[in-house]
Amino acid sequence: MCGIVGAIAQRPVAAILLEGLRRLEYRGYDSAGLAVLEEGGRLNRVRTLGKVARLSEEVAANPLKGTLGIAHTRWATHGEPATHNAHPHLSHERCALVHNGIIENHETLRREQIAAGHVFTSETDTEVVVHAIHDELEQGHALIEAVRLAATRLRGAYALGVIDARDPEHLVAARQGSPLVIGVGFGEHFIASDVFALLPVTNRFIFLEEGDIAELTREGTRIWDRDGQLVERPVKTSSVAVDAAERGAYRHFMLKEIFEQPQAIADTLQGRMAGDRVLPETFGNQASELFQRIRSVTIVACGTSYHAALVARYWMEAVAGVPCQVEVASEYRYRRHVVPEQALFVTISQSGETADTLAALRQAKASGYDTTLAICNVPESSLVRESDLVFLTHAGPEIGVASTKAFMTQLVALLLLTVAIGRFHRLDAAGEARLVALLRSLPARITEVLALDGVIAVLAEQFVDKHHTLFLGRGEQYPIAMEGALKLKEISYIHAEAYPAGELKHGPLALIDDQMPVVAVAPNNGLLEKLKSNLEEVRARGGQLFVFADFQVPLEEVEGVTVIRLPETDELIDPMVFTVPLQLLAYHVAVLKGTDVDQPRNLAKSVTVE
Ligand code: F6R
Repeated sequence: MCGIVGAIAQRPVAAILLEGLRRLEYRGYDSAGLAVLEEGGRLNRVRTLGKVARLSEEVAANPLKGTLGIAHTRWATHGEPATHNAHPHLSHERCALVHNGIIENHETLRREQIAAGHVFTSETDTEVVVHAIHDELEQGHALIEAVRLAATRLRGAYALGVIDARDPEHLVAARQGSPLVIGVGFGEHFIASDVFALLPVTNRFIFLEEGDIAELTREGTRIWDRDGQLVERPVKTSSVAVDAAERGAYRHFMLKEIFEQPQAIADTLQGRMAGDRVLPETFGNQASELFQRIRSVTIVACGTSYHAALVARYWMEAVAGVPCQVEVASEYRYRRHVVPEQALFVTISQSGETADTLAALRQAKASGYDTTLAICNVPESSLVRESDLVFLTHAGPEIGVASTKAFMTQLVALLLLTVAIGRFHRLDAAGEARLVALLRSLPARITEVLALDGVIAVLAEQFVDKHHTLFLGRGEQYPIAMEGALKLKEISYIHAEAYPAGELKHGPLALIDDQMPVVAVAPNNGLLEKLKSNLEEVRARGGQLFVFADFQVPLEEVEGVTVIRLPETDELIDPMVFTVPLQLLAYHVAVLKGTDVDQPRNLAKSVTVE
């Protein structure tokens, strides 16, 4: 949801800002812009509609020399994607600002500022902030004080980068509800929405806390907390490689990330199991003691992460023997709910910054949940910092907007959690040993399924001219069908829905005709016979079936039925195994349709606004 970068250095910063934006583009790509302070105190601003590459071309034609600057890549919330709505926003050619988040009281502030004589040039919620800061600067306040005073009037979420044309020595940053890091260099300092943006220039970072305001100079930084106290925040060294977020030889990040899944699983399992046991400290040092006490689990997440949670509900109840409820965070946070006694509250998020998930966690803590656990892929994220227990998935940076390897490692984390809780309930030592062996076998199983890539690329041709697709599954394969439908719709723009196969005859069967491909996920499990009857219902009505089934499933390829065979595994890891072909199907359909696979329209990777 918008990416921001800023730099104060002894060298020209435009190239650093542009590279930072390129690396942040997954956060939004409607428009991009930057402003640098040139000698003589002139703010030089360039903004373009569309992607960062266009901004780079524009800057190449009109080089910028300034050593202090801010930049932004936008995901539109208030005001259409248009050059005049692109950041940075300026006030009276003096103050320049980039913003990530939403200012909730912008309408009131705008009315007041118009009455006071400000002329607005955009429809954004952001522009009120730059005018508010400008007014404080005009009162004679230094930039840091001007930002602090203006911030007291803002309601909502923001990460800000601000410069004053009359002050070439300072860059000011503020964080309230949207992520922001400071990059520490030698004789130069930076800000960005995440560490990846700055890896080409530094690997040392300060993670700002909620309510922090920071003043950066070339030589150092000073940070004030939400109470106005000067504070020291630790400088942390990142071990992420500078090329960790590069595409390499793959045509798209999404394909690279699908193929990285065996490694991502192995990395996530590393150090979490010994012999035939899951290590007790896998979820934190006090986890075992806490898990012994819990009587139920509540899991909250959004989108793909929510689908992982739905799979976990089947595992938690069937394997661990513990009641488990699952809900999307945007619903949970606004619902009056009953807090079960001795319950564990789990959030799942790739980014750890999803606004609804974070709000749900805060709600759960306030309403008295015993213990909170975050399953997350980003170590210094808000979700991680605010949870009692943390499990970090080691998927590595995920750049494609459609989540793939992060989902896979979330499933791995949730199966480990099922064991860690289940051993105090229904799961015996033999059951645990069996699960551990299955988890160990997973990277090899996923590698086998990836070999189907070519077959699925050909299969994809049958979906390109379709407008709708139905996905069917039963049991823990129902959420996998949901995930398959989400992947297809978000990157190919084909309308796709998932149904538990048993629900077909209660309505969706009416949709079936030869223009509605039906994808079914059919491992050889206890529900297979039931699923086969459901598939017959589709066939009898002329539907085109595409069935992903393992080798043991007795299913004939006949007119209208295409069967794609997968290696036979075990029911407990089938959700992971059957996820892969659905990811590949969505990918190849999107490639054939010529959509922007890694940056699909209207979406952004990290949803830091409500
Ligand atoms: C879909 C996708 C989204 C995210 C959702 C939650 O491919 O990636 O549905 O899963 O926006 O994001 P996180 O996991 O970062 O909380």
